[in-house]
Amino acid sequence: MAEDSDAAAPQSGSTPAEEPAQNLAGGLRATGLRVSAIALVGVTWLSAGLFGLYILAYYGGTASDGALERWNDTLQGLYEANAPLATLGIGSHFLGGGVLLLLGPIQLIPWVRERSIAVHRWLGRLFVTAAAIAAVGGLTFTLLSGTIGGAVMDAGFGLYGSLMLLTAVQTVRYARARQFDAHRAWGIRLFALVVGSWLYRIEYGLWFSAFGEAGHTDSFNGAFDYFMAFAFYLPNLAVAELFIRARRRAGPLTEVLAIGVLSATTALLVVGTYFFTREFWGPEIARRFL
Ligand code: HEM
Repeated sequence: MAEDSDAAAPQSGSTPAEEPAQNLAGGLRATGLRVSAIALVGVTWLSAGLFGLYILAYYGGTASDGALERWNDTLQGLYEANAPLATLGIGSHFLGGGVLLLLGPIQLIPWVRERSIAVHRWLGRLFVTAAAIAAVGGLTFTLLSGTIGGAVMDAGFGLYGSLMLLTAVQTVRYARARQFDAHRAWGIRLFALVVGSWLYRIEYGLWFSAFGEAGHTDSFNGAFDYFMAFAFYLPNLAVAELFIRARRRAGPLTEVLAIGVLSATTALLVVGTYFFTREFWGPEIARRFL
């Protein structure tokens, strides 16, 4: 990775005596950034993969049993017998979402890309198609049936779907134009949005275990629900921007900040994943697949 080796470069204006210390500090920051990014992607993959498997096990499993009404056990209004287009939208969005969560992180592993560009291209096509299906399916449902939380949640999910579509299109556009720096940056933004779908559940779980149901109502129109209609993806986009800029050599402070944010996020995800796997995802995956 050419960018990483730049981190070890001495800063301009330093004396020859200061260069070894600056090289060491730069090298440590570059390693710290790489390790914290790998840890975050690893934990995210494991956790998002479990959530993806759960979606296929539960929503796919009940659909193949012909028991679509059981979708409403998790969230009222997901299935309405007299709204076939909305059902098709939300159902295809489950499939697209499950595929995205399972395959997404593979695209970010440099090793796969370096070994086989063909695998990277084919997975990329599948990934972007799944993102478009998840986004268009979710937007169709939002337009036709509306979300459970009403206008604020509709706006939050509407923006989420539109951003996912935009980032998917941009990722492909820049790959075709062979502008790989921009392609990579848009791919990271898309991944940050995909991760939002799963963070939404994790963040609710962490909130409930810390504060009970404060700010939440069954119809998702409490203060915390309104906050969450946007907070499950906008902060991730900010972290993604920080990461993209840190890799483009924005300076030592941004690198240290990025290492801190990436590590704190990883720790939070480990706790959330443990809780969700024990309570929800694990039992459903075991029932269908084991
Ligand atoms: C990786 C991508 C995604 C995954 C894995 C995913 C997953 C899910 C799941 C599992 C549910 C069912 C509720 C639950 O179990 O909590 C759901 C509901 C929903 N999703 Fe997604 N989703 C994704 C992306 C999107 C996008 C891009 C939109 C765009 C608008 C969207 C809109 C919705 C809507 C509107 C609902 C129903 C909410 C309600 O009834 O109030 N999702 N999603």
